[in-house]
Order: sequence, then structure tokens, then C-alpha cells
Amino acid sequence: MTQGALRRAVPDEPAFDPHRFPPAARRNRLQQTLLVNRNPLTELARARERHGPVFTMRIYPYQGVVCVTDAATNREVLTDHERFAAGDAADLIEPLVGEHSLILTPSPRHARNRKLLMPPFHGSRLAPWSGVIEALADEYLPELGTGRPVAVRPWAQRLTLDVILRVVFGIDDPSRRDDYRTALDRMMSPGNLALLFAPGPLRRDLGPLSPGRAFERRRAAVDRLLDDEIAMRRADPSAGDKTDVLSLLLAARDEDGVGFTDRELRDELKGLVVAGHETTATCLAWCLHLLAHHPAALSALRADLAAGSTRYLRATIQETMRLRAPVWDAVRIAVRDTELGGQPVPAGAYVSAMFCATHVAADVWDDPDDFRPERLLDGGHDTWSLTPFGGGARRCVGAALAQLELEVVLKAALGRGDLLPGGAPEPVRLLGVTLVPAKGGRVVLRTA
Ligand code: HEM
Repeated sequence: MTQGALRRAVPDEPAFDPHRFPPAARRNRLQQTLLVNRNPLTELARARERHGPVFTMRIYPYQGVVCVTDAATNREVLTDHERFAAGDAADLIEPLVGEHSLILTPSPRHARNRKLLMPPFHGSRLAPWSGVIEALADEYLPELGTGRPVAVRPWAQRLTLDVILRVVFGIDDPSRRDDYRTALDRMMSPGNLALLFAPGPLRRDLGPLSPGRAFERRRAAVDRLLDDEIAMRRADPSAGDKTDVLSLLLAARDEDGVGFTDRELRDELKGLVVAGHETTATCLAWCLHLLAHHPAALSALRADLAAGSTRYLRATIQETMRLRAPVWDAVRIAVRDTELGGQPVPAGAYVSAMFCATHVAADVWDDPDDFRPERLLDGGHDTWSLTPFGGGARRCVGAALAQLELEVVLKAALGRGDLLPGGAPEPVRLLGVTLVPAKGGRVVLRTA
């Protein structure tokens, strides 16, 4: 697998030096990486308690990641684009999504592409899709509502992938959707994704049997499908009548009348599926898992839904993302030597707005480990203490789509019958950049 022609517009990552970085644990990198993967929230809380809200985590594949974990520094990192650059900061996923994905695009090109990409993701454009999402939920729910413990996350991954194929890619033909499912499942299999985080030599294409070659093959299979799709849709005279995201992107033009190139579109679509599928599925799994273990919140939610309101549902989704942020952080790179919270940050260092830790810090939230959707019914909290979708000019493009999916599927699932625990409350594990329930978030859904 190859790191493409990314133009690195930021300084190279410096070696870790305790005098130039915020304080770090004395563990070696391997130990620290293993501990964080196994128990991310506990490890971060420990570091925060020992060193304060700004500290360094020495985790692979980085030398040292500067983590900020309070509202003020979170805001600084996410909004001060002069000091903290995105784009290059996500270079790890470039072999997967390609260099033209919005996620990797540096400023100022990012602003132009984002302006083209955003309109199809506005809530008003997405609302008409709720019927399609509801129909998909009805199709998938019998697999969940068996009356026995079922892991929600793998179930939800199939569902959210289908939502993307319908709403974002606009694939109507069921057999073509099957082709996409197969190719995308291979490209995003845990083994393939793990390679992104592996040391450089392991990632290289070292011959037909090497993991690097397999990675390339899987990515190329997705590229072929997307290239065909884009060519077909450009040639289709009825394309203008369609309202899926790809159709709208094919027609999008900037102020100079220029649209996306085929290559840009292909990378954008890969970026959207990578950013939007596991994240939403993981959130769905945590929502149902936490509700199953908190019967009082579940009853309050049912009562509110029965009264025709979605207020408590929205608070439940937010509270879930506070306690179990599906994406653990947003990463930037320090453009020059600077400081955060009184700590030094060297140019080129990776800087993480580690909001999963901010969300559960005792000096930021009362009783942070309690699951209490009521606390979010009336807002009132500092915006920068709760940022599951990141913030600033890079805030998640798909937040409204994720919100729509979560609301529609949760309502449909609860409408099916009783929701009960499918085992003990599950600990949190780190998988790539997502915080997942260790056993997939098992619940029992007993159809009425
Ligand atoms: C619960 C589900 C989701 C969560 C928690 C989530 C979270 C995030 C986070 C934390 C970021 C980084 C923001 C930053 O760097 O400041 C992000 C970026 C992004 N997300 Fe999401 N996301 C979700 C669903 C989706 C969906 C459904 C899509 C699209 C189908 C999507 C597309 C994107 C894109 C394209 C970006 C890059 C934005 C940019 O660089 O300008 N996400 N998301």
C-alpha cells in the first residue's frame, strides 16, 4: 500500500523529547499503546488526573500525541487553524480513502470542497430519506428482535452501510448493492484497517502474498466499482432527477462553475463511507446497550416518544455520545512551536482534541459516569465540553445524517417491544479511532 503524493504542508513530526512536550507517563510506547487500546477511557482519566488536562500519550504510530481534555483547550485546537492544521493530520488513512478526500484536503482547498460537499448533507435535504431509512430498519430489525442476546454493533454496521449505499451513493439495483457490500466489507475488514496503524515496513507491497498487496487489491476493487458508477451516472440523462448525495455532487459547481473531477468524487465517496458507517453503527450499539442497562431512562424515553416528542430521544443520543464518544478524538498538527494550557507543544507534533476524555471529566461534568439524558434536555453546558462531531471548520459533514439514522432506527427498535440487557455492561475498547463496546453491545429485544 502506498502513501500517495500528499503534499505535507506542515513540519515533520519531531522525536519525543520530555522537555519539549507536555508531561507523559514513564511507560514505553508499546506498553502505553496496548493499555490505551484495552482501556482507553481509564488510561486517559489516569493521565489527566496525574498531569492535568494537557498531557502526552506515547502511542503508535506516533512519537507522542499531545492530548487536550478540557473545554477551553478543545476549542483552541479545533478552531485555531493558524496554529493547528488538519488534512495532513489524517495522513494515516490516505491509503484507504485517497488523497482527495475532504478529510485529507488541506486549507484553503478544503474550504472550497467542503462548500461543494455540504449542501446534500443539510437536514432539510436529508429529511425526505427518513422513509427509506425506516424501511431499511424494518427489514433488519427481525435479526435483532429474536428475544435472545444479540451484539448490536455488527448488526448496525450492515444497516448503516446500506443507508450509505442508498442515501449517499444512490445505488438502486440490489445486485449492485451486493457487489458494493462485498467490496467495502473487504476493504474495511478489521485486518485491513489494522494495517493502517502498523509500522511502515509491514504496510509495503512486498509481493503477491504480502498484507500490503492484499490491501491494494481490496482498495482497487472498490475504486473500480466507483469509477464505473461515476462514469455511468455522468452518462445517464435522468441523473438530474435523483436526490441521493452522489447525484447532487455530480451537479455541484463552485463560484467559477467548476465541479468535482472523477478522481475527487471517488475519493470523497470512499471518505464518506469510511467516516460514516462504523461511527454511526457504534453509536447505535452504545445507545441501545446503555438504554437496556438504564431502565429509568428507557421508561422516560418511551413515555416521551408516546407523547409524540423526540426531545428525550435527542438528549439520549447526546448523552450516549458524551459517555461513549463513538470517535474518540479529532487530530491536528502543530504548525509551529506553541503552547496549550501552559504546556509546550513542538512544531510538527500531533495534537489531539481528545474529547472522549473531556466528556467524562469530573471538573467538566457532574457525576460524569452516570447515564442521565435529562442533563442534556435543556442545554446549558459549554458547547466545547461536548463535541462528539468535532468542531470548527472541520466539524463532521455527516452529523445530520447520523442524527437522522439514529433517531429513525432507535424509534423503530423501541417500537418493536421490550429492550433488556444481553449480559453485563460492556467495557470500552479502542478500535482504530472508535470506542466500541467489548462484545458488540449485546441487548435482548423481545418483540411484543
Ligand atoms: C455518530 C456518527 C458520527 C460521528 C460520531 C462522527 C464524528 C466525526 C468527527 C469527530 C470528525 C472529525 C471532526 C474534526 O476533525 O473536527 C468527523 C469528520 C467527518 N465526518 Fe463524521 N461522524 C459521524 C458520522 C458521519 C457520517 C454519517 C458521515 C457521512 C456519511 C460523516 C462524514 C464525515 C466527514 C466527511 C468528515 C470530515 C470533515 C472535514 O474534514 O471537513 N460522518 N466526524
